Amino acid sequence: MPTAEQTEETSFGVYVHWPFCLSKCPYCDFNSHVRRAAIDEPRFARAFAAEIAATAARAPGRIVSSIFFGGGTPSLMQPATIAAVLDAIARHWRVAADAEVTLEANPTSVEAGRFRGYRSAGVNRVSLGVQALDDRVLSELGRLHSAREALAAVAVARSVFARYSFDLIYARPQQTPEAWRSELDTPFAALHAAGKLKIPDEDTARALYDTTQEICAAHGLPAYEISNHARPGGECRHNLVYWRAQEYAGIGPGAHGRLDIGGSRHAIAAEKSPEAWLARVERSGHGFVTDDVLTREEMADEFLLMGLRLAEGIDPARHAALAGRPLDPLRIAALRDHGLVEMTAAGRLRVSMPGFPVLDAVVADLAA
Ligand SMILES: C[S@@+](CC[C@H](N)C(=O)[O-])C[C@H]1O[C@@H](n2cnc3c(N)ncnc32)[C@H](O)[C@@H]1O
Ligand code: SF4
Repeated sequence: MPTAEQTEETSFGVYVHWPFCLSKCPYCDFNSHVRRAAIDEPRFARAFAAEIAATAARAPGRIVSSIFFGGGTPSLMQPATIAAVLDAIARHWRVAADAEVTLEANPTSVEAGRFRGYRSAGVNRVSLGVQALDDRVLSELGRLHSAREALAAVAVARSVFARYSFDLIYARPQQTPEAWRSELDTPFAALHAAGKLKIPDEDTARALYDTTQEICAAHGLPAYEISNHARPGGECRHNLVYWRAQEYAGIGPGAHGRLDIGGSRHAIAAEKSPEAWLARVERSGHGFVTDDVLTREEMADEFLLMGLRLAEGIDPARHAALAGRPLDPLRIAALRDHGLVEMTAAGRLRVSMPGFPVLDAVVADLAA
């Protein structure tokens, strides 16, 4: 992973949102929609290209270091649509030779069958929504794939892409630490330890959290963010852009972006409804409905909130530059005394292992 210092100012991510799914999972509050009629992908591709052009006009000259197709279910998109969007990005910005290009995929056999097409289109990493490795739980979560199918999709991802990740959801209803332990051990045993790991009562949730840290770390996948684990070097570079409070463009229905324009940080968001977004883009060249200039306080709070999720922590000097004042040394000292935060040898402030389960309280205290 490039160090925080190396990439502090240089990363620029592009997020592209595909808002459609085959069915709606009951736990999901992402901007995802089920449509009976076929989706007119070429029409969406033209709208994405228009919004990319409109964004590049406001934020020209950036070098794109990561692109992320999220959803919804981007693995329902045709590879040709992905290729068209990547072409549009490359027409308006320079794309770094080693840019990370991720696509979120549901782990069904149909979708795994498209992985080679995505690779040809320019995707070099997939993020699979495995969620659970127990068929009964998968059915309760409303998933359309079995555990066996999910593991098969992971195997295809491994053979097609040099880098991939998969999501698992824990602290599910009635989940016990013992059952989670055997579920976590399954993929590692089956896959020779590779990949990414990502409400019962508080004590059980805490036990599930501790089990996750222990098993993932033992398999060489420490947490680099509160709910993301990777082998060193396997971290999602695009998500690091968010957590390091760097610049990113949001493209598509409901997408959010953060752009530095004329010395100010703009928080930009697009219309959420896919049809209304399409109509707006076709009418006025983009679907953005929010464009707020963040105050110093807002920028500093966002920096703290995102950066303290990371194991690497934050640079207090960057926070002070944003906020116009340093963090309160007395509050830091009190949190240190309780073992919840620590200063690294390089002078970064980070949340300690005992602090992560109470991260929200730590951030609230520091930001107060
Ligand atoms: C928005 S989904 C897109 C990926 C793909 N559609 C899928 O479901 O496999 C990205 C990830 O968000 C996570 N997610 C969705 N709803 C969640 C929730 N309520 N709590 C925790 N994670 C959630 C899931 O793990 C999922 O893989
Ligand atoms: S498939 Fe993914 S995006 Fe769609 S509803 Fe389920 S979790 Fe949400």
